[in-house]
Amino acid sequence: MLSAARGIIVSGGPSSVYDDSSPTIEPGVLSVGAPVLGICYGQQLISHLLGGTVRKGDKGEFGLALLELCGGDSDLLHGVPNHDRIWMSHRDVVAAPPAGFRVLATTSTCETAAIENPERRLYGVQFHPEVVHTAHGREILENFLFRICGCERDWNPGQRIGKVEEQIRQQSAGRKVFFFVSGGVDSTVAFTLCLRALGPDRVHGVYVDTGLMREGETDFVETNFELLGHNVVEIERREDEFLTPLETVRDPELKRHIIGEQFVRVQESIIESRGLLSGDWLLGQGTIYPDTIESGGTAKASTIKTHHNRVPGIQKLMQAGRIIEPLADFYKDEVREIGRSLDLPAELLDRHPFPGPGLAIRCLCSDIDEHVSQTSEGWRIPVRSVGVQGDSRSYAPVLAIDAGAHSPAALQAEATEIINRLSSVNRVIAAVSTREPMHSQRVFSASITRGRLALLRRADAIVRQMSHASGFDREVWQFPVILVPLGAGESRDSVVLRPIQSVDGMTADSVAMGEDLLRHIAARLIAIPEIAGVYYDLTHKPPGTIEWE
Ligand code: XMP
Repeated sequence: MLSAARGIIVSGGPSSVYDDSSPTIEPGVLSVGAPVLGICYGQQLISHLLGGTVRKGDKGEFGLALLELCGGDSDLLHGVPNHDRIWMSHRDVVAAPPAGFRVLATTSTCETAAIENPERRLYGVQFHPEVVHTAHGREILENFLFRICGCERDWNPGQRIGKVEEQIRQQSAGRKVFFFVSGGVDSTVAFTLCLRALGPDRVHGVYVDTGLMREGETDFVETNFELLGHNVVEIERREDEFLTPLETVRDPELKRHIIGEQFVRVQESIIESRGLLSGDWLLGQGTIYPDTIESGGTAKASTIKTHHNRVPGIQKLMQAGRIIEPLADFYKDEVREIGRSLDLPAELLDRHPFPGPGLAIRCLCSDIDEHVSQTSEGWRIPVRSVGVQGDSRSYAPVLAIDAGAHSPAALQAEATEIINRLSSVNRVIAAVSTREPMHSQRVFSASITRGRLALLRRADAIVRQMSHASGFDREVWQFPVILVPLGAGESRDSVVLRPIQSVDGMTADSVAMGEDLLRHIAARLIAIPEIAGVYYDLTHKPPGTIEWE
């Protein structure tokens, strides 16, 4: 079957070629005649299968690096300038490429950043051309497709909407679709596509106020769906059903499960109370492709965190063929593009993404009571925040460094260096302003209470308002504000600012915020007596995820 392929890409992954359970390919794939490009683990696997040496990395390389070209002309790196910005995420590395290969590029920590054997049409890169942070990644993939594989640009994205609508009509097969909209881009676009494909008589929408939303969100949704003429959307206020079961939970994954299951329960009760159970209905969801990958929904990517659209109740509905997800194959930027073609208002499409479990995953809990401790790099904060290394999940404490008089850009460079060196932390934050000195800070045992949620909502609203007024919100892709049970004395919570730049949420850069804005925001927040400190997250993804849980 592969002999008909125009080209083959062996992708990256969290495995090491030396582990027995690691995914592999038939070595014959490398001689079917089609060009092969190995990316990250793919390059290591090709090298390993052809007799090269892969060295187990003791120290990772995560984040930005500079590509040094060294191999002269090559089709793969055609047009890529020397010293180009690339994105790395690996521990193992090819120490010696197989016979017949030559090295095309290196970085300061990787002597085989790109390799090729043009006679056999085999290519490899250790970095990730598929992520936006690699400056010429798109050109490298285009070189592979068009220069090496001889493919042609003959697809037409304009036909996409018609095709998706046709799929919706086919999959729904005369049934109705019931949607829970969140006011976010994904569910609004998915809902609008269903509405166009099936008409208002077959599509219903409900917005559930979970009590985990940002300030003013329910009003925003109500106003916008009215403006869109979608009087098929109703608002349901169900705060208690979410907040009560969360009150005693501290484990991040359990939180997600409870919210997901609660969603299903509330959804079922709504569906039942409207008599939709008796009819033939489907549940529509705005799930997009990265949600599926990170929930372990693809065969080999391990679970980084369980997405609320993939909890067991939903899985059961999926198995029964009762879920319809028109956007499941698309990335966020494509969803926005589809939304623009559907004439949805920019105010809605340009909103920052907001996670389904809402403020719950930004309200960190803790089951310990422990002081911060000093290390040679800074202060170890004994909370657990989730991160991603390779393609797998890590839970680790956070390191706080003193912001001092350093600029956010200088702090970021320091943070990247620390994270690459230490495998014991997956996140570095800068202490911008604290009520008490760092040595007196401690992590308090805490769960999600209505009081902490209200505090987070208030801090989040202040940050949103100030970043909107300054125009900073247009420079970032998302700006989570996280409440961490870190403080001293009566002030038992701190706020972490996490502005990031991204295209699809799969990888992200921490953004260096202007110093004036940072100081202003910090001054407003620290004026709230319950807030003990304001911190600034300096971590890229990987190794930190965008959200903290
Ligand atoms: P992470 O934290 O995994 O986030 O780097 C990547 C993007 O996904 C969003 N996110 C979620 N969205 N339900 C959602 O609808 C979830 O459970 C969820 N978890 C993370 C996150 O806000 C970011 O945009």
